[in-house]
Amino acid sequence: MKRIKLYYFSGTGNSLKVCKDLKLELEKKTEVEVEIQSMTKLILSKSRIIINKEITGLVFPVYCSDVPRIVREFVNKMAINIKNPYFFSVVTRGGSKENDFGNCFFTINKLLKAKQADLGAGYSLRMPESSIIIENPIEKHKQFLQASEARVKEIAKVILVKKRENFKAKNRFNYIKAVLGNCAWTIMKVWFRVNKKEVMADKCNNCGVCEKVCPMQNISRSQGKVHFGKKCEQCFACFHWCPQKAVKIGILKAGKKYQYKAPNITIKEIGNSIR
Ligand SMILES: Cc1cc2nc3c(=O)[nH]c(=O)nc-3n(C[C@H](O)[C@H](O)[C@H](O)COP(=O)(O)O)c2cc1C
Ligand code: SF4
Ligand code: SF4
Repeated sequence: MKRIKLYYFSGTGNSLKVCKDLKLELEKKTEVEVEIQSMTKLILSKSRIIINKEITGLVFPVYCSDVPRIVREFVNKMAINIKNPYFFSVVTRGGSKENDFGNCFFTINKLLKAKQADLGAGYSLRMPESSIIIENPIEKHKQFLQASEARVKEIAKVILVKKRENFKAKNRFNYIKAVLGNCAWTIMKVWFRVNKKEVMADKCNNCGVCEKVCPMQNISRSQGKVHFGKKCEQCFACFHWCPQKAVKIGILKAGKKYQYKAPNITIKEIGNSIR
């Protein structure tokens, strides 16, 4: 029996969708068992993160041409408890170019090397954009999703034979891109006041969806009001999942920006980290 574990971090559900698609594809083979686990659920529950499966996948979105902070924390906390582990990574991105994965694979490889392991393969899939600052055309979302589903089938084959890909991890240009991406993000955070999240009282019906989908347990409700804490990882799930378009991120309102959530992902699934 080949046992595979997929760990994900996901806001609009793209990365979780990739995990589910991968599981479906991989388990078409007999003797393959795939388990999917939320990274934030493990971090927030302060459980030990033990890597003990022969194949481990890290699936997450590209943030500012690099690995989201919470994913780095996850990899840093991993305890590898198996000989010759095979790691692969699938990143989902909004960027149009294949190498818009930026520095992701280099960073993951570096973090794994510190644990006497390495990244065997890295793949990036274009998906509908979640960042709300840069948006990709809504009419192309279906096309991106279909293309990613087709690509997942190829990725599944490669993973099963633990193929080692030349994913150009040491691409200096990607490193520079990540540095620039981070600078641009820092400026945009200030410009758009991204850290300031609030709910428009005239739109909110206190349904609680935002609280349920926040992968960081950063949202709570009391006395009919929604409160944001200090653990935000900027995944924008609260913005995209709110049925009333009531969440305002800095100066960005859902009414003016498109909202997106990955198909066939439920509130319960995206909020797997808390419920
Ligand atoms: C804060 C933030 C930063 C992002 N930065 C990038 C980026 O640098 N390059 C890119 O291609 N996509 C970027 N994106 C888009 C996401 O990577 C992409 O939409 C991803 O599929 C979202 O996955 P999720 O639904 O699993 O969270 C960013 C999204 C967010 C929220
Ligand atoms: S999801 Fe939207 S409508 Fe529901 S409680 Fe949150 S902000 Fe209010
Ligand atoms: S508060 Fe919103 S943006 Fe921040 S982690 Fe929670 S869902 Fe994501």
